Amino acid sequence: MIQIQGVHKMFDLADGGTYALRDVSLTIREGEIVSLIGPSGCGKTTLLYCISGLESIVKGRILFDGTPVEGPRKGEVGLVFQKAVLLDWRTVMDNVLLPIEVFGRPRAHYVDRARELIELVGLTGFADYLPGKLSGGMQQRAAIVRALIFEPRVLLMDEPFGALDALTREHMNMLLLRVWERTGKTIVFVTHDLEEAAFLSDRVVVMTSRPGTVREIVSVPLPRPRTIDMRYSEDFVRLARQLRGLLDVDLPTAAVG
Ligand SMILES: Nc1ncnc2c1ncn2[C@@H]1O[C@H](COP(=O)(O)OP(=O)(O)OP(=O)(O)O)[C@@H](O)[C@H]1O
Ligand SMILES: [Mg+2]
Repeated sequence: MIQIQGVHKMFDLADGGTYALRDVSLTIREGEIVSLIGPSGCGKTTLLYCISGLESIVKGRILFDGTPVEGPRKGEVGLVFQKAVLLDWRTVMDNVLLPIEVFGRPRAHYVDRARELIELVGLTGFADYLPGKLSGGMQQRAAIVRALIFEPRVLLMDEPFGALDALTREHMNMLLLRVWERTGKTIVFVTHDLEEAAFLSDRVVVMTSRPGTVREIVSVPLPRPRTIDMRYSEDFVRLARQLRGLLDVDLPTAAVG
């Protein structure tokens, strides 16, 4: 369980400080998928970094099973970003095992696990390929395997499929759910796509614009396992409309002509 309690995060700027997060509280249960949505700059990435321990907070606490996060949670959280950031001179297998090398663990202990995960994300047969020979979606799958190699308890994902086309993204959503069903990881997922948030999550956290606060936490009424059909169900459309209404993004009003 991750408890985020009254978290404030401030960045020092030349002309003083600015709050990125203000009084954010949220409890994430073990094995839950929670998405964060909100306008650009509202602090979604910042909140993920605070959970990972890569960013410090000025006020409030973040607890992992009751233990405060103080500094990076080595091996306990896996991070996946919008870009796969693979080293293009290393094969998929060597990229996936990079964290193992960096932390000086014995590579041989992790090769079987790497193969299993590579299979799980549908990259069987590509372990010896260089990233340049893979599509964007395949590179992102390799990045997911790399994030999972240490068996982290939590997967933090920052717009991981944001650069992919709609169909590939849908495919990656299904694949992520399969990975989740098999591994039971807790997932915190940041996205701009509220339908993606609704489809994947148990709960969607809607944040307000800067400084980011929790505006509303919406439970997703869809059963699991999720299927593509559900994206077209009445419940889903209603939920998407509700989420859209909660996002305080000002759209230009149409000119009356
Ligand atoms: N290192 C930093 N120094 C100063 N300000 C920062 C820093 N990182 C983020 N910020 C500020 O904190 C706020 C939140 O940024 P953050 O990147 O978390 O937003 P976001 O919700 O992830 O946005 P987006 O949807 O565009 O990715 C922004 O106003 C940003 O300018
Ligand atoms: Mg961001």
